[in-house]
Amino acid sequence: MPKKKLYIRTFGCQMNVADSEAIAQALAADYALTARAEEADLVLINTCAIRRKSEEKVRSLLGSLRVLKKRRPQLLIGVGGCVAQQEGERLLVAAPHLNLVFGTRGIWRLPDLVHRAAQGERPVAVELTPGVCALPHRLRPAGQVQALVTIMQGCNNFCSFCVVPYVRGREESREPGAIIAEIADFLAANGKEVTLLGQNVNSYGRGLPEPVTFPELLAKVAALPGLARLRFATSHPRDLSPELIAAFAELEPLCEHLHLPVQSGSDKILAAMNRGYTREEYLKKVAALRKAKPDIALTTDLIVGFPGETEADFQETLKLMREADFVQAFSFKYSPRPQTRAAGFPGQVPEAVKTARLARLQALQEELTLKANTRLIGRVAEVLVEGPSRRSPAELCGRLRTNQVVNFPGPPELVGRLLTVKLTEAHPHSLKGRWVAPSTPWPQVA
Ligand code: 5AD
Ligand code: SF4
Repeated sequence: MPKKKLYIRTFGCQMNVADSEAIAQALAADYALTARAEEADLVLINTCAIRRKSEEKVRSLLGSLRVLKKRRPQLLIGVGGCVAQQEGERLLVAAPHLNLVFGTRGIWRLPDLVHRAAQGERPVAVELTPGVCALPHRLRPAGQVQALVTIMQGCNNFCSFCVVPYVRGREESREPGAIIAEIADFLAANGKEVTLLGQNVNSYGRGLPEPVTFPELLAKVAALPGLARLRFATSHPRDLSPELIAAFAELEPLCEHLHLPVQSGSDKILAAMNRGYTREEYLKKVAALRKAKPDIALTTDLIVGFPGETEADFQETLKLMREADFVQAFSFKYSPRPQTRAAGFPGQVPEAVKTARLARLQALQEELTLKANTRLIGRVAEVLVEGPSRRSPAELCGRLRTNQVVNFPGPPELVGRLLTVKLTEAHPHSLKGRWVAPSTPWPQVA
């Protein structure tokens, strides 16, 4: 019997992207993926609850799926991920055309849930019980060169603005042996780049029967033959240890890039956020990182308009951005989230002030990004080709080890290869370059 068709729409972070891949794998016995919702037998929405805006996008998509369901009454629709975790049953009440709800640890129960939905039930699976969802061995399609590998789930930090601990539960690390085995399989199939994922990878390994530190795990992964590039996300500045900083100097595959969300440059706001570090402590770690790896590119997350943030606090953030010299920043207006402490804090900042601060912050970041790109002009660097460029079909798009984006002329056969590119032009969001040599033998016979 031909397989039925599954359409997955993913919102949010890399963790959700990895989860969506796991969803496809969990259902692979009965369903093949399609890129067109109109022809799907099963539509699953993997949701994000980090800000209200992300949540609204999910609701509007769910609304538009009602039309599809009218046309194809056999269609099954499911909502998973963080909004599903947060809302549970309430989603079924709000959307009568919805067939199933699965939380962040419900992925491996999907075959059963979908089966029950097909029988007319409307199952909801949103338990966050630790241990119920061992992350199974993920298989990746042949030809895939980059892999997102989940090493832990959940978060114990309770930053006062953040909904993640409530929708992803407590920290649970995966056994190192299972992680290594999965990556070894990926590399055996010619994989090149691995990104280790967790909400706070620096606390990896704490709860395991035989505790392992994150730097120890990194060393094991970096030693695997065939691995060209190693990255990880996300890293909490408080837990960034001297051993982890040293890893950047010691492990060749570990890329010169670190995403280190600072959130704010004001000590008062950092304390109210419950981040566990001061601006000075953060900047000291930045200095230590640069000492270990002078070329390291730092990227960050920033929130403007956190409750109580004054113009002076905001100025501290702008100042810190210059001092840390971020290559890129993801910046957000503070959004009050259910259950979080900050939602009830006094001094909520008016929307118009948030909007104005965000614009000023983003203008500064554009200046810093362009400066970082400009510094690279004239250099020759390794690029991993990710696909055709968005602007022109005659161009390819890839990334430097620092994660900066490079576009350059080249044929599509080069996708997935590591090349040496001369960097010739800096733009606000990317660089331009010229392919000078294959850094792996090319053309290769597969
Ligand atoms: N409002 C705005 N931004 C938020 N983030 C997390 N929670 C909120 C919130 N309530 C941002 C943080 C985090 C990133 C993933 O999303 O900057 O690092
Ligand atoms: Fe949220 Fe803080 Fe945990 Fe990151 S460390 S997921 S911001 S609670």
